[in-house]
Formats: sequence, structure tokens, C-alpha cells
Amino acid sequence: MKEQLDLLQQKALSEIEDTHSVKELQQLNVTYLGRKGSLTNVLRGMGQLSKEERPVIGQLANQVRAAIEKAMEVKQATLEQIELEKQLEKETIDITLPGRPVNIGGAHILTSIIEEIEDIFIGLGYEVREGPEVETDYFNFEALNLPKGHPARDMQDTFYITNELLMRTHTSPVQARTMQALEGNRPVRMICPGKVYRRDNDDATHSHQFTQIEGLYVDKNVRMSDLKGTLNTFAKKIFGEEREIRLRPSFFPFTEPSVEMDISCKVCSGQGCSVCKKTGWIEILGAGMVHPKVLTMAGYDPDVYTGFAFGMGPDRIAMLKYGIDDIRHFYKNDIRFLKQFHNA
Ligand code: PHE
Repeated sequence: MKEQLDLLQQKALSEIEDTHSVKELQQLNVTYLGRKGSLTNVLRGMGQLSKEERPVIGQLANQVRAAIEKAMEVKQATLEQIELEKQLEKETIDITLPGRPVNIGGAHILTSIIEEIEDIFIGLGYEVREGPEVETDYFNFEALNLPKGHPARDMQDTFYITNELLMRTHTSPVQARTMQALEGNRPVRMICPGKVYRRDNDDATHSHQFTQIEGLYVDKNVRMSDLKGTLNTFAKKIFGEEREIRLRPSFFPFTEPSVEMDISCKVCSGQGCSVCKKTGWIEILGAGMVHPKVLTMAGYDPDVYTGFAFGMGPDRIAMLKYGIDDIRHFYKNDIRFLKQFHNA
């Protein structure tokens, strides 16, 4: 039995020496030292030994086990070291490689133009507000003097969600929301940029989704001349000092009187060309004095307060300012188009 044990130790040690991976080593551990392993197997024969031989062989068996375990430990450490080195080699990072260029994004042209317009009005003492795109029929129409069945509702073809809920067709509901929030006793000076939706068929000048900026100024003694002065200042700041504005009578149910504002055509300086359809003027926005009914519904006393409101389309303004010929460019996200305006 002693020989058997010696032989087993020799064989084990040489096999351990020859292993190439931790996995193989673990396998050997099972083969030699496991519950059904070779050593256990040999020791099963202990029962046939004499009383004197038993402790001797027992001790020897322990030595063999210790020797094999020790050899495995040493081998395992070596193998782990080798594997670690291999892995480190595989994962080496060459820090001398030049970095990959990172594409730096920029604001969307519509965002830039909205921010530019916001800055102009913030400079005039306005605050920037927001309102929901999913709006109630009440705020989108009724609070703006457009009761159910009013023919002027047809001016803005609407995406309805339910009878009472819709995608807002303009940013004007934020007029009513703001006045209501201020509870009828504070002056209002706000603009509100945002997306609006209409049931239009998309073409070069129409989109079912576009942007608007609403403006509202309510205080004591606000007059039409204040509206004109404000719009004139705005137009010159955004399009250039040399541009003229003109106001034409128009109709909106929520303003009285109502106007549309044109600016003189930049392309032909008012001479008439294809951009301005030979008129020398380009329509830019709708505006007017806030209708007394709108003030009343929002809790402002029209005998004390007056105000003006305006609504413009940043899409259209950007198109005019940068000579963009198709509104769909704004929503296609073609990087070649967008990149041109990163420093705008
Ligand atoms: N809401 C109007 C539109 O979308 C524009 C407008 C706003 C007109 C405010 C007058 C006053 O056409």
C-alpha cells in the first residue's frame, strides 16, 4: 500500500506539473483528492491492514495528501499569474493612439431662432411661459371667444383627441392660462414659445406640426400704439434695422381690433419679387388688442385693464431670415441641413 501511495503521489505531482490551466488543475483535484478520487480509493484498502500498519499508512496518506495539495496550490498561483499576464497583455491600451474626433452637436435652428426671439422680449421686460400641447377645448377656443360652433374655428383645422381634448392649434390658450393664474389683478407681460398642431397636408409651406410664439401684454392704459412700437422694435432686431413694418386690418375672435403685420421684403427691398409675391411685403404675424370678453373670462376687468397680444411662427421667420424654401426641412432632421445653422 505504501508503494501504491508513493506511486499515486508521483503520478499526481507530475500531472500537476503538466497542467496548463486552472481548470485542468481543478479537474486533477477532483481526480486525486475528491470523494471518489484515487487517494480515497487507496485508503479504502486500509481495513485489510494490521493494527501496526494502519497508523503508519494513515500518516503516509496524510503526507501524500498534503504534498499534492501543496503542489496544487503552488501550481495554481503560477497558472493564475500566467493567465493574468495574458489577459493584461490582451487588454493593453495604447495610450499613444490619437483620440477619435467627437461630433459636437448644436442647437436646432428653430431652437436658436426661438431663443433669439425670447432674448429680444426678455430685454423688453417679458417673462417666458409654457403651456400644454394637449389642450382643453375650453382654453384653445372658448376662453378665446370662440364658442362651440363658431365659424372661425374652421380657420384652424383641429386634431381632436376627445370632444373636450385636442392638440392645441395655436399658443393663444397660454394667454388665458396666464391671466387666470395671475387672478385678474396683476399686469401680464409674457411670451410663450411652443409646438402647435393643425390638420394640414404637409407641403413646402404647411406642416401638421410647427412652432409659434405667443405674446401678451396686459396692464392699465395699454394702447394700440404700444403694440405697434413693440412689434416694430422686434422686427428690426430680428430682421435688421433697415426693415419696415406695416399693419393691415384683420380678424381674430380674441382680439379687437385685429391686425396682421408685414415686413418689407429683404430680397427686393419693397420693389416686388417672387419671395414677396410682387407685393414688396411679407406677412409675419397676427396681433391685436385683447378682446374685452377674453379679459373678462380670464378674470380681468376690461374697464381697468387693456392689453395686446400677438402670435408669430418661428418656422416662417427662420425661413425668411435664412432663405429656407421648405418648412419640412425643419422636421426631417437631415444632419446636412441642421449643421449649417450650428453657429447661427
Ligand atoms: N393665434 C393666432 C393664430 O394662430 C395668432 C394670434 C395670436 C393673433 C394673438 C392675434 C393675437 O393664427
